[in-house]
Amino acid sequence: MSKQKVTFWIEEGEVGFLKEKFNTDNQSEAIRLAILQSLATGDLEKIKTLFPYIGKKPPRIGREVVNAFEQSGCEIFVDLFCGSLAMLCYLSWDVKVVVNDINGNLTNLYTVIRDSPSDFVSEVMKLPYSEVVFQRLTEDLKSADNMSELNRAVAYFYASFGAYRGRMDNPLFHISTTADTNRAEDYHKSIQWILQLSKRLQNVEILNRDFRKVLKSYNAENVFVYADCLYLGTEDYYENVFSMQDHKDLAEMLKSHKGKFALSSKAKKDLRKLYRSNNHYVLNFEDTYRLPDKRHREQLIFNFEMKHVNKYGDTDIKPYR
Ligand SMILES: C[S@@+](CC[C@H](N)C(=O)[O-])C[C@H]1O[C@@H](n2cnc3c(N)ncnc32)[C@H](O)[C@@H]1O
Repeated sequence: MSKQKVTFWIEEGEVGFLKEKFNTDNQSEAIRLAILQSLATGDLEKIKTLFPYIGKKPPRIGREVVNAFEQSGCEIFVDLFCGSLAMLCYLSWDVKVVVNDINGNLTNLYTVIRDSPSDFVSEVMKLPYSEVVFQRLTEDLKSADNMSELNRAVAYFYASFGAYRGRMDNPLFHISTTADTNRAEDYHKSIQWILQLSKRLQNVEILNRDFRKVLKSYNAENVFVYADCLYLGTEDYYENVFSMQDHKDLAEMLKSHKGKFALSSKAKKDLRKLYRSNNHYVLNFEDTYRLPDKRHREQLIFNFEMKHVNKYGDTDIKPYR
């Protein structure tokens, strides 16, 4: 087999990371194996969220939002309450995306991963998966304003990964209690995805604003807004409170949005009062997926009639009145 020489630039930290991942001291071999693995697994365009996050959207919802965006004719996707970046993982890489969250620890983390990936990776790789480190970093985050951006990002990543069920309001260290789980191994595996996420974030706008400010700036016909705010009744699971007034303001602003929107919610009477309109449509997941468990009564509300036929051949988009 003939070989060809290829030359390209790669950061020092990234080389170290690949050598460790493929267990070799040979730089070219590490890079060759990384390329082969990407090609073999089709991972070139795959990204993953970094840690568990309350309210993280599963693929069955993500797919429908992507579907709606593609039908909307809009060019810009604004993820108004981006949380774990789950939606970014479902969208294709050529979509212009803006992500926003009021949680400054989260948006600082994404900004550091976008702009200084190798510094970030080399810092998190130095940390063993340990409750002592978890407690120290969780404590440090209480005065996050005094930390450098890099240290704050490392601490938030570590604490969020280690927190049981991603609950950062009262974080408890997540340990492996079953034979087939190993949190320490999972921690190191999750680091492997950071460079890929960094690549995707290169052309993503990251904002740390209250949703009202973002909606004002992006009120245009070519903007699709995905609003996954805290569901009515679950507001206190998060670090930031979301009041009834916030729900009302959101509804008002979405109703006057010039482009298209999709809102994630659970079927609730109070919500219907805010969004019922002749121009609005709803997709109920319990109909679409015939889910037996009523806890899954999730829905998407749109300001346009998305075309949707479920796997049983029924059209299940209904007016939301
Ligand atoms: C349900 S979570 C979003 C989950 C996300 N879609 C995912 O899949 O990971 C809601 C998010 O809204 C953010 N948030 C709360 N109040 C906000 C506000 N006033 N403006 C912007 N973001 C806010 C929270 O920090 C939280 O990350």
